[in-house]
Amino acid sequence: MNYGYFDEAQREYVITRPDTPAPWANYLGSPEYGAIISNNAGGYSFVKSGANGRILRYHFNSDDTPGRYLYLRDDVSGDYWSASWQPVGKDLNVYKNECRHGMSYTRITAEYEDIQSEALYYVPLHKTYEVWRLKVKNNSEKDRKISAFGYAEFTNDSNYEQDQINLQYTLFITRTYFKKNKILQTINQNVEKNEEGSNGQERFFGCAGAEVTSFNGDKAAFLGAYRSYSNPIAVERGHCDNVLNYNSNGCAALQSSICLKPGETKEIVYILGRHNDKDSDKILESYQDLSIIEKELQELKNYWHGKLEHFQVNTPSKEFNSMINTWNAYQCFITFIWSRAASFVYCGQRNGYGYRDTVQDIQGIIHLDAPMAKERIRFMLSAQVDNGGGLPLVKYDHNPGHEDTPDDYSYVQATGHPAYRADDALWLFPTILKYIGETGDSGFLEEVIPYANKEADTVYDHLKRAIRFSLERLGDHRMPAGLHADWNDCLRLGKKGESTFVALQLYYAMSIMISLAESRKDIEYAEHMKGVQKELYEIIQNLCWEDDRFIRGIKEDGQVIGSKQNKEASMWLNPQSWAVISGLADKQQAEAALESVHRELNTPFGVRLMAPSFADHAFPGALAILFNPSTKENGGIFSQPQGWIILAESLMGHGNRAFEYFKESSPAMLNDRAEIRVLEPYVHGQFTESTESPFEGRSHVHWLTGTASTVMVGCVEGILGMRPDLNGLRVAPSIPSEWKELTMKKIFRGKCLNIRIENKDGAESGFREMYLNGERLTDNYISEAEMKEENEILLVM
Ligand code: GLC
Repeated sequence: MNYGYFDEAQREYVITRPDTPAPWANYLGSPEYGAIISNNAGGYSFVKSGANGRILRYHFNSDDTPGRYLYLRDDVSGDYWSASWQPVGKDLNVYKNECRHGMSYTRITAEYEDIQSEALYYVPLHKTYEVWRLKVKNNSEKDRKISAFGYAEFTNDSNYEQDQINLQYTLFITRTYFKKNKILQTINQNVEKNEEGSNGQERFFGCAGAEVTSFNGDKAAFLGAYRSYSNPIAVERGHCDNVLNYNSNGCAALQSSICLKPGETKEIVYILGRHNDKDSDKILESYQDLSIIEKELQELKNYWHGKLEHFQVNTPSKEFNSMINTWNAYQCFITFIWSRAASFVYCGQRNGYGYRDTVQDIQGIIHLDAPMAKERIRFMLSAQVDNGGGLPLVKYDHNPGHEDTPDDYSYVQATGHPAYRADDALWLFPTILKYIGETGDSGFLEEVIPYANKEADTVYDHLKRAIRFSLERLGDHRMPAGLHADWNDCLRLGKKGESTFVALQLYYAMSIMISLAESRKDIEYAEHMKGVQKELYEIIQNLCWEDDRFIRGIKEDGQVIGSKQNKEASMWLNPQSWAVISGLADKQQAEAALESVHRELNTPFGVRLMAPSFADHAFPGALAILFNPSTKENGGIFSQPQGWIILAESLMGHGNRAFEYFKESSPAMLNDRAEIRVLEPYVHGQFTESTESPFEGRSHVHWLTGTASTVMVGCVEGILGMRPDLNGLRVAPSIPSEWKELTMKKIFRGKCLNIRIENKDGAESGFREMYLNGERLTDNYISEAEMKEENEILLVM
């Protein structure tokens, strides 16, 4: 079943049926002010932090309420509805609704009883408040009297958890006031009085473009006892009763009555934010001329569309195009910005950035906004401890050079993270390599950056220490120890247990280090690394290869995980894909391992993380058993590794297989089976339930996931074959043989590349000829020096 479609020209996803299988969300705002909104206007807002800056309340794991509600009432008949289908929820046979989620704005249109409405929601660029514009049009032949009610439900405390559970306190600290045309809410108003007349913390919800005819600052007064958002007493009755809260839940409800002649449209603008009385008045005044709204919307579009323009592709698959050009790219930015902080599943309780997640997330945006990526790489390097390991959690108020580490009890107590993880700092290698490849900025390696706890070093030396961290923590077989966890949060191999995944990561990191060392003539280090890498190669080859697969690791007590002999979890995905990505597997091994993946792990909805799921034969550190079979790390289709298997197949030149994996797991490809997948068809989730689940194909944990970046890399670097290195760009597509032609536009180091791939003979990879601006090249490689400002590139497969 299908609930909507991609409007690529507008870069919008259009939801044509509002009764979607789950709330389908969009993000508005910036790191300064964030907002999430569903297709039924459910959602919440926060200033800087989902945990500590929450200003709009949301009921998690419930019914997508409350939200940014706009109620409409026919003041003659008394009938009422909402500008989004919910919360009033009129019969869809008579109520028409469309929701367009765009790049950082959402527009919901409805038509009911000849009244057309449009609710536009956005956060203006560089501003710290949000705008809801309501347009109401009379499509009937007679004059209409309509009341509009804007409703925002404030939290009583900006700490989300306090607002939800500490009711003996938070119910008694807020008050609301009606001032001019807005509700002003104060929190702890008797403290922090300042000269400007501010009282405690203040939030406002005001309106411009229409008079306020009645108001409520008290939630219970607006809704009425034993009622819900679907039938507030104030709306039913036709006016609010001007009651403000005192020792009860606050809210902001503003009624405006309007008269509309046939064909006439009126606009009302509502603004919400955390600002004091004076500032909010100024903000509201700046919206007296409503034409500012279209200007602000255009600015937002220019900003986002401009970023996405850095890489655009036109292939025969419109789903692939929509994902790579727009939605996967946008999701990469959203995940980059909010990490795992605020969605409909992440309730905003994380108090910092996870090291591995954040370093991985950077990879998804490097080809679109390298300066933004660089800033975050710097930040993450400053969260590397001087022993080379990463801080498992980097606090939002991270103070480089002065942080405690997992070796300090204070850090463990503050973050809840008891120990180092084996993989964290190793993610720096591919991320920094991709950054340097995309930009040519190898000078970055000389930049001096502090460590988290003390001292500072060049980026190059930071990387050396990351390698040393792993080499100083080896297990009995001299493979890297699994420590508290590797990429898999549910796999504790024991402190001295050994992880194949980390071993492969380390092997890859060494290759990267060797190339960097050679390019800067650090021959001694390069030679040393080659020796160490050779040793590691032998160890991995001897210990981890078993017939047709790489094992997952070796426990502290010697037990092999991921061996054919195991009753459960005998085949794991990541060691196979990473054996290829790292360059360790020889051709025969790579072919065999990838074939085993296809045979044992592939499903119609993607590749399982491992199989069979744990049920009866888990070892004590196999935390995945906590989950139901076919779920999350317990044999589910974990989404992030789909990107790695797509990349691995592409690196092997298997374009058909790479695209098969893309198709199975790509949200857009499941648009017409949205009732099965449940999540937004334009957004990756964390995992999909696999074969043993009665709900095979259902996906979970929308938006904030490392999947965004790995699938992006799998598609751009893998399938499309954009493989930059220090000096230029290799073009090595690995595409489905049915694609006869595709074009790409890439901004590379400030130059424009118009790339055309011709595949008349239906190849999957490889090339016959390549031309740069009409000149035939000897290789499928273009050095930066050969590029002009504007370049026409043709690759014949
Ligand atoms: C979650 C975590 C990530 C971890 C993955 C696998 O997505 O955010 O850090 O690598 O699970 O366990």
